[in-house]
Amino acid sequence: MKPIKVLITGAAGRVGMPLVYRVSAGDLFGLQQPVELQLLEIESMLPNLEGEVMELRDCAFPLLKDVTITSDLETAFGDIDVAFMVGASPRKKGMERKDLLEANGKIFPAQGKALNDFADKDVKVIMVGNPANTNALIVSKNAPDISPKQITSMSRLDHNRALSMLAQKTNAYVSDIKRVAIWGNHSPTQYPDLSHAIVHGKRALDLVGDDWYRDTFITGVQNRGTEILKHLGVSSSISAAICTIKHFKSWHYGTNNGDWVSKGVYSMDNPYGIDEELFFSFPVICDEFGISIVENLKIDDFSMQMIKATEKELIAERDVVKHLL
Ligand code: NAD
Ligand code: LMR
Repeated sequence: MKPIKVLITGAAGRVGMPLVYRVSAGDLFGLQQPVELQLLEIESMLPNLEGEVMELRDCAFPLLKDVTITSDLETAFGDIDVAFMVGASPRKKGMERKDLLEANGKIFPAQGKALNDFADKDVKVIMVGNPANTNALIVSKNAPDISPKQITSMSRLDHNRALSMLAQKTNAYVSDIKRVAIWGNHSPTQYPDLSHAIVHGKRALDLVGDDWYRDTFITGVQNRGTEILKHLGVSSSISAAICTIKHFKSWHYGTNNGDWVSKGVYSMDNPYGIDEELFFSFPVICDEFGISIVENLKIDDFSMQMIKATEKELIAERDVVKHLL
């Protein structure tokens, strides 16, 4: 079987490395499909990455056909089928993710061009590096030959945080819950929406009450990354790597169980009146035709107010990087 080529940028980092192991172990495409890894790092990290890859090879993963380590964009992006764009600085205590915009944003015009020029034309891209939504926009605008529908930003970590908090509150399993949605930015303005969610077939908001929803749940999901940073001194890593895999798998295999997931997608032609030139997290379903935003959801006044606040922040982020688009 022909190996699938997977690019991981920032491969020596705290999110990149667990991702490298999970992809090598077959977590992405199952236990029959070989993979080839193309690992991009900044030049000063290459010796370190080489050591990491020695360890990786020592695992003798049966599906791992080849590993390339490089700081060269043409080599890294050459013929890739999947791009996990992780390589970017993480925030430190006291920072918001948008404070990374200046430092990280300038990484992505060149990587967008490399994606455009060297990747397989059907490549699927997942932006993880923060601020993820706006970095995805920069990549997309610099890759005019790749459809924006092939580029996504990750809000799956927020989605899973929401699932987990609701499961704990209702004493349910995560698998009992459907139709949680994350709207907007991967930031504290995101709107984790339970107004359509069901737990064991019952309306989630009837189970948890409005006070818990508004005062504990929403702020809890919005600020979870900051809380982790406060406790650990560094931002999330393993959960981010696992959610990157989950984000990709729901896209690749589809969401055919009556549920949806949340992904940052290009907002053109969206059914909710959101500015049409953003990467915005919506509830989506995935099938053989790609990713589609869930339509016809009733959006109440509170939800619309929350959605507009996060849209406003994304528009402001876009203004900051307009010279990179
Ligand atoms: P890290 O500092 O441990 O690793 C980042 C790696 O990227 C480093 O090894 C660095 O050398 C590399 N890098 C920097 N610039 C690069 C470039 N131009 N090309 C290739 N590699 C480059 O950081 P981390 O904890 O792994 O986090 C990586 C990014 O992912 C951060 O921006 C972080 O905020 C973000 N993140 C996003 C989510 C999410 O849910 N979207 C979750 C966790 C982390
Ligand atoms: C997260 O949500 O955990 C990541 O975006 C990392 C961060 O900066 O909080």
